Amino acid sequence: MTEADMTEAETTEAETPEAEVTETAASATLEVKGLNAFYGKSQVVFDLDLHVEPGESVAVLGRNGAGKTSMLMAIAGVVASRAERLTLGGVDLSRLPSFKRVQAGVSLVPSGSRSFPNLTVDENLSMVRSGKQRNGGIEWTVDDAYKQFPVLADLKNNSAGTLSGGERQMLAVARAMVANPMLLMLDEPSEGLAPMIVKGIATRLREMAGQGIGILMTEQNHRLALEVADRVYFIEKGQSVWEGDATAAADPSVLSQYLSV
Ligand SMILES: Nc1ncnc2c1ncn2[C@@H]1O[C@H](COP(=O)(O)OP(=O)(O)O)[C@@H](O)[C@H]1O
Ligand SMILES: [Mg+2]
Repeated sequence: MTEADMTEAETTEAETPEAEVTETAASATLEVKGLNAFYGKSQVVFDLDLHVEPGESVAVLGRNGAGKTSMLMAIAGVVASRAERLTLGGVDLSRLPSFKRVQAGVSLVPSGSRSFPNLTVDENLSMVRSGKQRNGGIEWTVDDAYKQFPVLADLKNNSAGTLSGGERQMLAVARAMVANPMLLMLDEPSEGLAPMIVKGIATRLREMAGQGIGILMTEQNHRLALEVADRVYFIEKGQSVWEGDATAAADPSVLSQYLSV
């Protein structure tokens, strides 16, 4: 995804009248059946099935190049895809452009946790306005985000470009939070972060799931994923090769087979 894609998605969402967001169901299951993703003629995701229930955290793990990012981008509508079924809370996402998928409740934190470097932390958070209350009436505000991430409150007037990697990732998660998504997707949220920071983000993500949000994250590094996830899929060469609960996924023989750790 390019910066321009993200900008368009977020800006358009912020400017959309509330009336256009039609789906407000508290139970917003993500259902993916037979997902195929493509870069031009090159297919990189094959017949993938997965689901994320409201309040459930799901991790998709796999080696570098397995297709994790492409899968998230396909669900977000930024990479070309074809699916038998791609719905969130019963709403068909498959024909919606990416910005409408954002309106339907899909929020993606891309890897590298991009924000607008020339804007302050506060501006980055304030520009994300959620269309509507979701999750049974809960609506997270910028103040809620500061309560969740006190570090960001201390940095609110600093420009985002001056933040450390960990602070940037917190800002990215906080921005996704105030968008009040029903499904929060995170691409490699622990990448390059110190263990302490990863622990903090894991706690926040569990709290968000506790409020009914579905979480779908990808990781090459299984540490954060296995701490947060209820359920895990391993993928190889764009195909699902293992599915089970996080406890079973943490088995060293499973990890060594699918991640070579
Ligand atoms: N923009 C692109 N154009 C063509 N092929 C791509 C592009 N991005 C990724 N790929 C290919 O798609 C496959 C899956 O990549 P990716 O989804 O990034 O995997 P992962 O996130 O699991 O590391 C890889 O073979 C990669 O080379
Ligand atoms: Mg990736």
